[in-house]
Amino acid sequence: MAFIKPTQPKGEPEVDLGRLPRHVAIIMDGNGRWAKRRGLPRTAGHAAGAETFRTIATYCKDIGLEYLTVYAFSTENWKRPLEEVSAIVGLLKKYLLESIEKMERDRIRLRFFGDLTPLPQELKELCGRTNEISKGYDGMQVNVCFNYGGRDEIIQAARAFAAACAAGERRPEELTEEMFGGYLYSAGIPDPDLVIRPSGEVRISNFLLWQSAYAEFYFTDVLWPDFSPEELRRALAAYQGRDRRYGGV
Ligand code: IPE
Ligand code: IPE
Ligand code: MG
Repeated sequence: MAFIKPTQPKGEPEVDLGRLPRHVAIIMDGNGRWAKRRGLPRTAGHAAGAETFRTIATYCKDIGLEYLTVYAFSTENWKRPLEEVSAIVGLLKKYLLESIEKMERDRIRLRFFGDLTPLPQELKELCGRTNEISKGYDGMQVNVCFNYGGRDEIIQAARAFAAACAAGERRPEELTEEMFGGYLYSAGIPDPDLVIRPSGEVRISNFLLWQSAYAEFYFTDVLWPDFSPEELRRALAAYQGRDRRYGGV
């Protein structure tokens, strides 16, 4: 696999807007370290990271990207101190409330990947409502992964298929990759073409395990709160320089 070295040369990257990936996915990582470097509490890093999400999502819409998926909270992130988890949940609520109007103006579709059941009732309703409101829109689709885990998603899908078999609606031998994909949170959405992970970590951390089978990966040392449209252009330019072979020659 060709990784882009974190020390790639700077300079304005050239992006061909006519050849954009359809679907970009981002692991929004590095908030805690960003805060630590500034002597701030980790929660300040999450607030800064949420602002970066807003900037990057707006930029993606402006350049005409079709699908943007962001990893906001994993099934493993519950291991963190309650105060930090509460701050992240609070940010989700704040940004949802603020973005409803903007979503309508920009025709942005919003969908959630993940198990929202442990969230406060009010927030669950808000998620459901924003999802419902934006269903009919035709602009960029943003998928927010919250309490999301790739393995958990696959297990949920396997359970749903097994239940359909037990109910006599499906037969095990008719299961195909395509049909299985229909049981995932990402049903109906093309697989990510490009997965970006800032913060210097070079791992997938349970993100889109099924969907990223043939994704291109881009890693950078930049911490998420410092991630800029220029940084995104750099990732897009790197993507456009890749040769995707899908196992062929
Ligand atoms: C990503 O930033 C946000 C979440 C995982 C919720 P981190 O909080 O993981 O930041 P680091 O990795 O500790 O710097
Ligand atoms: C992945 O980041 C999850 C999100 C960014 C939401 P983590 O910070 O949780 O991942 P690890 O612990 O470094 O693998
Ligand atoms: Mg992290």
